Amino acid sequence: MSSTDVCPRILVIASGNAGKVREFRNLLAHLPLQLQSQPEGLQVDETGTTFAANARLKALAVARCSGQWALADDSGLSVTALGGAPGVHSARYAASDPERIARLLRELGDADDRSAQFCAALCVAAPDGEVLLEVEGRCNGWITTAPRGDGGFGYDPVFEVEETEATFAEMTLEQKRLEGHRGRAFALLEPQLKKLLLLQ
Ligand code: IMP
Repeated sequence: MSSTDVCPRILVIASGNAGKVREFRNLLAHLPLQLQSQPEGLQVDETGTTFAANARLKALAVARCSGQWALADDSGLSVTALGGAPGVHSARYAASDPERIARLLRELGDADDRSAQFCAALCVAAPDGEVLLEVEGRCNGWITTAPRGDGGFGYDPVFEVEETEATFAEMTLEQKRLEGHRGRAFALLEPQLKKLLLLQ
């Protein structure tokens, strides 16, 4: 029996976003990890100018505060015709998911170029301040003229994934995992994380 069978490593999911947490619980389910939520009330200022910098800030802060390894995701949507907005400000673009979608559709208007890209930067950090892993995944697509689908979260109903004719909100969790930015980032992270878990 390996040490990971006896005492699974605790990993704190450094996010208060229920949609992200649900996706990570699904992605991490088969690994020898005991998943925990981040401490209540913890607010990390996302002062970075890149997804990677913000993921690092969140992972380090949550690892330090919880005393455990922490996995953070900073992600967002960059729309070509809006000069890359909302980008790292995706969560702060408006007060709620429906308002964020409404603002996005309003600002894009009837623009011909509706191309956009989702990016997810993942970081695993340790309580002593060491950055253990960092990866990024991307997904190309375009912004629909109206929301479609009931699944997912955030901008999912208005992001159609290239070559699928489906928005993220029209996909199952499994399809989004295969096609999406977070699933792609996780595919890069997983072998490295497994290696780390074996070494502990
Ligand atoms: P943050 O990474 O917590 O700063 O927030 C990222 C924001 O980008 C979320 O609040 C969502 O609005 C949006 N976002 C990130 N990933 C996704 C996704 O997979 N689908 C839809 N929206 C997303």
